[in-house]
Amino acid sequence: MKIIVGITGGIAAYKAPELVRLLKKAGHEVRCAATEHALQFVTRVTLETVSQHPLYCDLFASGGTEHISLKDWGDLLMVAPATANIIGKVANGIADDALSTLLLAFSHKPVVMAPAMNCEMWTHPAVQRNIETLKSWGIRIVGPAEGELACGVNGMGRMAEPQQIADAICQGERSKMKGERWLVTAGPTYERIDSVRFIGNYSSGKMGFALAQALVDAGAEVELVIGPTALNVSTYQHIHVHRVESAREMYAAATELFPQCNGAILSAAVADYRPAECADHKLKKNNSEGMHLDLVQNPDILATLGGMKTSEQTLVGFALETDNEEANAQRKLEKKNLDYIVLNSLRDKGAGFGVDTNKVTILSRDGHRTESPLLSKREIAQLIIQTTT
Ligand code: PMT
Repeated sequence: MKIIVGITGGIAAYKAPELVRLLKKAGHEVRCAATEHALQFVTRVTLETVSQHPLYCDLFASGGTEHISLKDWGDLLMVAPATANIIGKVANGIADDALSTLLLAFSHKPVVMAPAMNCEMWTHPAVQRNIETLKSWGIRIVGPAEGELACGVNGMGRMAEPQQIADAICQGERSKMKGERWLVTAGPTYERIDSVRFIGNYSSGKMGFALAQALVDAGAEVELVIGPTALNVSTYQHIHVHRVESAREMYAAATELFPQCNGAILSAAVADYRPAECADHKLKKNNSEGMHLDLVQNPDILATLGGMKTSEQTLVGFALETDNEEANAQRKLEKKNLDYIVLNSLRDKGAGFGVDTNKVTILSRDGHRTESPLLSKREIAQLIIQTTT
C-alpha cells in the first residue's frame, strides 16, 4: 500500500520516524507530509531519510498542485500525531497549509488519525464534537491512550504507540470486514424474446465488479451475481461468481444467497419487464404489420430483499434516474426498505453505463447525504463501502 504519513506539531511528532520505519518494514511505500509546527519537533532531514522521499510541507513549492498529485499517489493518509488544531481544521473544511489541503483533497480515500494532546484539550466539547464529525465521515481514529503526558500530568491524550498505529493501519485495511460475506448484483439482465433476441440494457457490470473488489480489499467474501457481461470476473480469490441471464435467474440466486450474508449492494440494471412468452424458434418477420410484444413484470429483487432483511443486515440499492433524481431515489429507499441508496443521474457526464467513472449521491435512511465528484468506479466503490459499512 502507498501510505502518506502526515505529521503535525505535537511532542509525539518525535515518534513519527519510528512509525514510518515500521510501515516500510511491513512492505508499504511511505511519503511524509508535515506542518511547519511539526518541524519544531522532528527535522525534515530525518523524515526524508526514513521515507526516502522529499517531504511535502510547502503548499506552493512545486506550483501549488502537489496536494493533488500526492492524493492521486496515496492509498491511505495517516496523521500521527493529530493535534486538536488539525482535527478542528478537517472537521470544519479548513485548508490553509500543505497538510490540511491534502486532507481535504483526500476526502474520498481512507484517512486514519492518531490524536495526541493534553487530556483537558482532548475532553473539550469542541474536540469531541470534531472527532464525532470525522468518525461520521468514515475517518478512523486510533487512540489516544491514557498515561503520562508531556506536560507532566497523567491522563487521556498520549498518542498511541507507533506499533499500535502501524498494526491498526495494516489490519484495518485488510480486515475491516474480515469474516463478513456480502452479496453484490451487477450487470444487465437479458429477457428472451425468442431463440436469438432479447430485451437488455447497456450495463457493463463495471460498477458491481468494482464494488466486489473493494469489499474483498476490505476483507470480505463476496457472492457476485452477475448478468451477461464481457468482463473477466472469474479469476479473483474471495469473489464467488454466479452467472445469470434473466431477472428471474438473478432473483433466484440473490434470494438464496442473501440470508447467509451480512449485507447486499444491488447495482445490477435489472429489466423491469420481460416478454410474456418466449418463442423457442426465431420469430419470422411479418411483412404486413408491426410486431407487438406482451410484457409482464419481473420480480423486484431489491424490494424482496428489503422484505427479508433482518436487523443485522445492511441493504444498499442503486437508483438510476434521469429526472427528479433525488426525490425518486428517496422514494425507492423508503419503499424498498433500504439502509442506503446510491443515486446515479444519467444527466451527469461520465457517469452511469459502460464508462470507467461515476458520480453518485449516497442517501441514508437516517437522512445523511454524501455527494461524490466524478471518480473512477473503483474509488466510487470504496466511497460506498466506507459510507455504508
Ligand atoms: O454496469 P455499469 O456499466 O458499470 O453501469 C453501472 C450502473 C449504471 C448500471 C449502476 O451504477 C446503476 O445505476 N445500477 C442501477 C440501475 C437500475 O436498474 O436502477 P433502477 O433505479 O431501475 O433500480 C433501482 C434498484 O432496484 C437497483 O438497485 C436495481 O438493482 C434494483 N432492481 C430493479 C428492478 C428489479 N426488478 N429488481 C431490482 O433489484
